[in-house]
Amino acid sequence: MSRGLRKARVSSSCWGRFLRILLVAVCALSIAGGMILAREFSSLRWEDGAGILHARTGVSGRKLSGGEVLKAKSDARSALPFLDATEKELQESAVEPLQSDADSVLERAKRRLVSRIGFGSCTSRVAIDQHIWVNSIIPSDVDAWIWAGDIAYTDWPDVNCAANPSHIHCNCTRNWLRSNPDSCLAGDVAHARLKFEEQLSNLDYSKFVDFMCSTSKNNSWRSLDLSLCDRPILGTWDDHDYNWQDGDKRMPTKEEQKQLYLDALGVPRNSPRRSNGRGIYWRHTLNEGVAGKEIDVLLLDERFHRDTKPCHTRRDFCNFTNPKKTKYMWCKDFLEGGAAGTGSCCKKDDQFWQGWCRILENRANPLWNQVCNPKSPLYGFVDANIEMIHNNSINEVFAWSILNQVDATSDLSVLCEILGPQQRRWLRHELENSQAVLKLVVSGSPLISNPTEFVCSQARKKHPAAYCKCYDDFDCFQPAQRNLLHMFTTAPGCVVVLTGDFHFSDIKILQPGNRRYSNDYGSTDLPRPLVQVMASGLTNNTAAPAACEGFRIDKVGLRPNGACDFVSGPAFGLIEVDWDILPPRARLQIRGDDGQVLLEQKLSLDSCVPVS
Ligand SMILES: *[C@@H]1O[C@H](CO)[C@@H](O)[C@H](O)[C@H]1NC(C)=O
Ligand SMILES: *[C@@H]1O[C@H](CO)[C@@H](O)[C@H](O)[C@H]1NC(C)=O
Ligand SMILES: *[C@@H]1O[C@H](CO)[C@@H](O)[C@H](O)[C@H]1NC(C)=O
Ligand SMILES: *[C@@H]1O[C@H](CO)[C@@H](O)[C@H](O)[C@H]1NC(C)=O
Ligand SMILES: *[C@@H]1O[C@H](CO)[C@@H](O)[C@H](O)[C@H]1NC(C)=O
Repeated sequence: MSRGLRKARVSSSCWGRFLRILLVAVCALSIAGGMILAREFSSLRWEDGAGILHARTGVSGRKLSGGEVLKAKSDARSALPFLDATEKELQESAVEPLQSDADSVLERAKRRLVSRIGFGSCTSRVAIDQHIWVNSIIPSDVDAWIWAGDIAYTDWPDVNCAANPSHIHCNCTRNWLRSNPDSCLAGDVAHARLKFEEQLSNLDYSKFVDFMCSTSKNNSWRSLDLSLCDRPILGTWDDHDYNWQDGDKRMPTKEEQKQLYLDALGVPRNSPRRSNGRGIYWRHTLNEGVAGKEIDVLLLDERFHRDTKPCHTRRDFCNFTNPKKTKYMWCKDFLEGGAAGTGSCCKKDDQFWQGWCRILENRANPLWNQVCNPKSPLYGFVDANIEMIHNNSINEVFAWSILNQVDATSDLSVLCEILGPQQRRWLRHELENSQAVLKLVVSGSPLISNPTEFVCSQARKKHPAAYCKCYDDFDCFQPAQRNLLHMFTTAPGCVVVLTGDFHFSDIKILQPGNRRYSNDYGSTDLPRPLVQVMASGLTNNTAAPAACEGFRIDKVGLRPNGACDFVSGPAFGLIEVDWDILPPRARLQIRGDDGQVLLEQKLSLDSCVPVS
């Protein structure tokens, strides 16, 4: 039945071809990596309107006694050989009880047990009704909600720029931040605030917040900590609530934008999440203290510390386009920008992963594990060793290239980062020390997307550079991706990745063994499978019916029920844990806008193996 429904949506209707073309364009525009597509399709735009959205997030460090704090610190030190001063401070502040925690100890003790966790991403660029909250999410009786990004399209213009090119939202000086015709508002904090307010006052969304929080009516949105609701609302951001489409760590107003986002979630003023210089990554434990039923929600920040895409992912594409054209101005920056004028693109993956690591004799180098082996606990960090390398004449070229990478925007890491070394240390520490039976890792960008080539430029389709192998997701950042794949499949308990961003929804399982994708993900000898649930597009503005073609076809077998087993209409994710059977099982679902279950995968939590 659910299949039939989906099929009906995808099949061509009486609108015929025009609608299909329009829908394809809308969907293409909406994909995060759509920087490029958006440029190609920019003349096909939808109606004017104001953008909208929401947000909320979790707070609260786990409370530890003094002795436990000391132990946690020493554990951290032994597990994390390169823990630096900043990181130590962070971890200390993260385990300090917050005022709001202290106030809510009693509240917590009588909290409802969380079994049904809803999550989703990508509301709407424009101000429209958001029926899904009332028609589907509330009736699904969620005990908690997690935002996986794009609660507000804060960088989105309030007018159609193709039709209003001289409007102040559309006519700005173009540079690397604002090269896209729709990106004049990137970094504009005042506009972002309006967009958040618009979303938070959306009538459907307000009804949802009232359902989740008995105290919501007595609080303005800035003073209600949504993680303390009867049914908590948690979250992290993605590019549009970061206020720069496909944005990275160079965002000039990222500190202000962070405060704004956390205001929208009601995160307390004294939360370490707000600290200067760090992203909003955080752990929130659901059912805390309930033996055998804890669920850790690990909210990642994939914007604040993110490098520009690795050079190889768009070098040919940019060379093939004309960077003097406004819409490809980012290419000029990508290839010729940066402090040294050698391009802002991230060079490390080309130099190390694709370069040094492929030279067989380097396997004997003592730095091999740190630089080239994602399975190693040392992987991804080069620290004090820089001196050692430099002094060690074994490989002068290597020493030179590492030193060459260390500039004001570069951290001491040999890989192009999405999380950054500090957050990766934190994540590993959290995973290794978590007692939770289920760990939900919330990643704004898909960890596993689609390793096949697809058309990323409509211009001159026959040219090889018109094809790409990734958008703006982890498939572009292979060394960083493998680091996480390894961490998630070796952590105690069971890890499930929750993601969004692509404006369609699906469930993917990365299986060990020889598969068509094994080489793309280095997955042959993973110790166990890894499941990713993507729920993206909550309204018809961000989740239009879309055909199973191009980027949306899973040609390599990551979707357990076939290449086209995805949902392209408005949808959200639901993780339901059945605590009463042993071992406990989770049902991972995608639900549509009238509550229907469109996709489902069961998962045994003790083995972390998908079951039918
Ligand atoms: C999308 O949803 C809005 C709000 O519910 C509605 O007004 C509009 O007609 C819908 N558009 C389409 C194409 O279904
Ligand atoms: C954009 O603004 C500049 C002046 O700031 C003006 O010269 C130009 O004509 C404007 N472009 C459009 C398309 O209105
Ligand atoms: C909310 O405020 C009203 C009065 O404005 C009061 O009667 C009610 O008890 C308050 N509810 C909560 C949950 O604080
Ligand atoms: C860019 O393209 C031109 C012509 O296609 C080619 O000669 C040149 O080597 C390319 N440059 C780079 C950096 O790939
Ligand atoms: C090399 O090692 C020596 C001592 O072992 C140290 O003093 C020096 O700073 C190191 N670095 C360089 C670049 O020579």
